[in-house]
Amino acid sequence: DLPARVRIHEVGPRDGLQNEKRAVPTEVKADFIRRLADAGLTTIEATSFVHPKWVPQLADAEKLFPLVADLPVELPVLVPNERGLERALALGARRIAVFASATESFAKANLNRTVDEALGMFDPVVARAKDRKVHVRGYVSMCFGDPWEGAVPIHQVVRVCKALMDMGCDELSLGDTIGVATPGHVLDLLSELNEEGVPTSALGVHFHDTYGQALANTLAALQHGVTTVDASAGGLGGCPYAKSATGNLATEDLVWMLHGLGIDTGVDLDRLTATSVWMAAHLDRPSPSRTVRALSHK
Ligand code: HMG
Ligand code: MG
Repeated sequence: DLPARVRIHEVGPRDGLQNEKRAVPTEVKADFIRRLADAGLTTIEATSFVHPKWVPQLADAEKLFPLVADLPVELPVLVPNERGLERALALGARRIAVFASATESFAKANLNRTVDEALGMFDPVVARAKDRKVHVRGYVSMCFGDPWEGAVPIHQVVRVCKALMDMGCDELSLGDTIGVATPGHVLDLLSELNEEGVPTSALGVHFHDTYGQALANTLAALQHGVTTVDASAGGLGGCPYAKSATGNLATEDLVWMLHGLGIDTGVDLDRLTATSVWMAAHLDRPSPSRTVRALSHK
């Protein structure tokens, strides 16, 4: 059975832009977020309060967030540690996301920590956020494969997921950071998480589309009962600390499939496509999304 409605967690302004080499002006980012909201997206990951040297593109978080804070949508932000949480809370953020890794290699590359040191860094962040009734998402990266370590054993992923749930995260997002997952692997992980006590209602999926599997993986997850799906407008993106990571599943490709299945998203696909075409012009390269290309060349 497929769900009647899917909540799209739009990550374009964060995951989509974080890897752009040329600085995108803050005002363009704010316009991007406004247009996404206008296209009907209701959860838009706006930016990250990480170390500015680690992700220079998002160093303008303090300038950007107030420009969009009045929009009637949820604006989650990434926060790696207490310093990041302070910065986010000072601006009134109501949703944060911590980001763990299922592998040691990526924990080191992305957070300069072991997997357990990173979990230890998140623990006080989640506790303080929950005290303030701030919603907390816990990302788990490298849930399926890792560029340094290869295939990632499911028990390793489950351990990190359970630790984040025990900490008090409201939801998890299962990241296929380098886009190597296939549908059977997705179903195996979801089933194992359920058996270990993590309910499907707490799980979102976050597929990068490197191998063209993101939509197939999403459909498998939907059939399992998942109703939160991450996507990036126009298929922008990639992680600066994981080689071979390409853009996320394009939001347009996702919406095309969901609407075709009769699943409600609240998204106006034409407006969304126009936004991605507009953004592609700013970034000076065409969107990799097949749906954006098809709809903009009609
Ligand atoms: P570190 O170098 O170990 O930092 O980096 P530290 O804790 O040793 O602190 C060093 C200095 O940085 C200190 O300043 C801190 O105050 C400062 P000093 O005392 O030396 O003057 N500092 C900060 N400044 C501003 N904001 C902060 C902050 N924290 C420390 N938040 C750290 C550790 C976690 C900070 C660093 O590794 C980092 O920022 N990493 C972020 C990497 C990142 O954003 N990656 C992309 C997002 S993850 C992703 O894309 C995957 C995902 O999409 C899911 C998927 O696809 O799998 C989510
Ligand atoms: Mg990602």
